[in-house]
Amino acid sequence: MANRKFIVGNWKMNGLSEQLTDIAEIAKFADKYEGVDVAICPPVTLIAQAAEHNPGFMIGAQDCHYADNGAHTGCLSAAMIREAGARLSILGHSERRTDQHETDAEVKAKAQAVHAAGLSAIICVGETEQQRDAGQAVEIVCGQLAGSFPENADASWLTIAYEPVWAIGTGRVPEVADVEEMHAAIRKKLNELMGEGAGGVRILYGGSMNGGNAAQLLAVANVDGGLVGGASLTAEKFGPIIEAAAAA
Ligand code: 13P
Repeated sequence: MANRKFIVGNWKMNGLSEQLTDIAEIAKFADKYEGVDVAICPPVTLIAQAAEHNPGFMIGAQDCHYADNGAHTGCLSAAMIREAGARLSILGHSERRTDQHETDAEVKAKAQAVHAAGLSAIICVGETEQQRDAGQAVEIVCGQLAGSFPENADASWLTIAYEPVWAIGTGRVPEVADVEEMHAAIRKKLNELMGEGAGGVRILYGGSMNGGNAAQLLAVANVDGGLVGGASLTAEKFGPIIEAAAAA
């Protein structure tokens, strides 16, 4: 049986309080298409207000520290983002793996911390263009997945997002056959890593997903949803993606 589709907006470093109206508009779409799970991960400064004004609609964070507390200036623990109103956190996004030098081991520890606090985790994996050109994409992505994979993983709280680095924010999207190959490889790896229950872990595609290409991407086998950046900032752009997921 196909998994319920999951469409997640990653706002990255975009949004001030005036953009809360966009979250309210997006929440209306989520209400309308009840068969789809929808979440928005705004900057942390908006989590509390977004969660307060849109009860029932899933608000998430974009990162979280693996420690419970301590001398980590500028960082936030899982309990802190939960208290703010987050119900999930994106972890190991390629921008953090590059800019903050996050390692697989750190991503794994973060996922475990998030789960221990009662939140869900979306672990991101993806190859660079150079790695794809060298024919290493599947090997790199499956290696990242194995290294970042938390103990006691379960489909009730864990989601994987495949985001080819070269497709993020570029308007470029892989061929359908390449998405299909990668998502099948991730599913196979999940089977190896966790056995029973692997089929229920949702695998999202991310990288230049928009209202024009969502239907085609969401129809691919093992694509259980999308992790959307630029096209998640307004209901006008994000709504059609939710609509496509409902029809997929
Ligand atoms: P874009 O949809 O802007 O390409 O970003 C994808 C992404 O990185 C989501 O996490």
